[in-house]
Amino acid sequence: MPDSDPSTTAARAEPDFGSVVMNAHSPREPGIGTVIESSRCTRAKATGFVRHVAIDVSQTKLAGAFRAGQSFGVIPDGAGADGKPHKVRLYSIASPSQGEDGAGNVLATTVKRTIDEHWNDHRLFYGMASNWLCDLQIGDQVRVTGPVGKRFLLPTDQAGHRYLFLATGTGIAPFRGMVMELLAANHSADITLIVGVPYATELMYDEQLRALEAKHSGFRYLTAISRHEQDDGGGPMYLDGRLSRHADAFRELLADQRTLVYLCGLAGMEIGVYLRLAELVGPDGLTGYLHAADGDLGDLGQWDAATIRKQVRPGPRLMAEVY
Ligand code: A2P
Repeated sequence: MPDSDPSTTAARAEPDFGSVVMNAHSPREPGIGTVIESSRCTRAKATGFVRHVAIDVSQTKLAGAFRAGQSFGVIPDGAGADGKPHKVRLYSIASPSQGEDGAGNVLATTVKRTIDEHWNDHRLFYGMASNWLCDLQIGDQVRVTGPVGKRFLLPTDQAGHRYLFLATGTGIAPFRGMVMELLAANHSADITLIVGVPYATELMYDEQLRALEAKHSGFRYLTAISRHEQDDGGGPMYLDGRLSRHADAFRELLADQRTLVYLCGLAGMEIGVYLRLAELVGPDGLTGYLHAADGDLGDLGQWDAATIRKQVRPGPRLMAEVY
């Protein structure tokens, strides 16, 4: 098709994300926030520890300056074993652009405690920053920086799009904020959220998301449990398995050129999701979501992790934040 074809142009057009503030506070001049909430955001019997930490940033330049989908920085107090002060760590903002308080003065994040064994001597490995943040008590102060992030954002024309949000683990954080923001602005916003976790007990914000789904007919909340059977039948699955399981609905959603796809979570999730996208929309429909570094996506059937890393880039209607 020639480039002047309007349908092709629409498929290639990047949505307008509007303006963003970047680094209102740099790591050299952090702002001082205050923790106002720290609560478990998984069910009581979860195997991991994930906390919803809300920070009052009203006395910082982050106030009113962050947007859903952006990240902010935290500089843990103290110094490392080498005596050097801790460096900034980035955390996804889990709040809508209006903040937890509706006025942009409180932002929240979703922090998982990193606890593991050292691979060499099996001693306990205790992630410094995540545990420091999770240990903070109400009233404690925290040095904050940012915000950062220019593209993992909602478009300015929110009502002009349909949304597919795909999260693994704490990748749910930005989508909590985005879903809250979209539904507050438009009661019937068309949003599908798929969350992948190992067990149902690890689902974060599950009650809140189920309540939103019950209230808003355009919001679908689907889960993919990777180490257990699904509530609605079927064996363990990764979130891309959900795309296949409801293939007809997703084929329709993805063929719509208003649809924006967002991925957040483990880097490995890209492979499965990209392969399913290719299966569902075919080579022509795929150009809106993915393109090739050298102009040729090659034989989709032959994609593997290495090819995807080397060759596949997000297209105009796909936003990926993976780590
Ligand atoms: P699993 O660990 O069972 O392989 P968390 O961060 O809480 O561990 O959750 C991450 C979720 O993402 C888990 O359910 C994990 O499954 C799943 N996961 C791991 N690798 C992939 C992948 N390549 N694609 C999709 N999901 C994945």
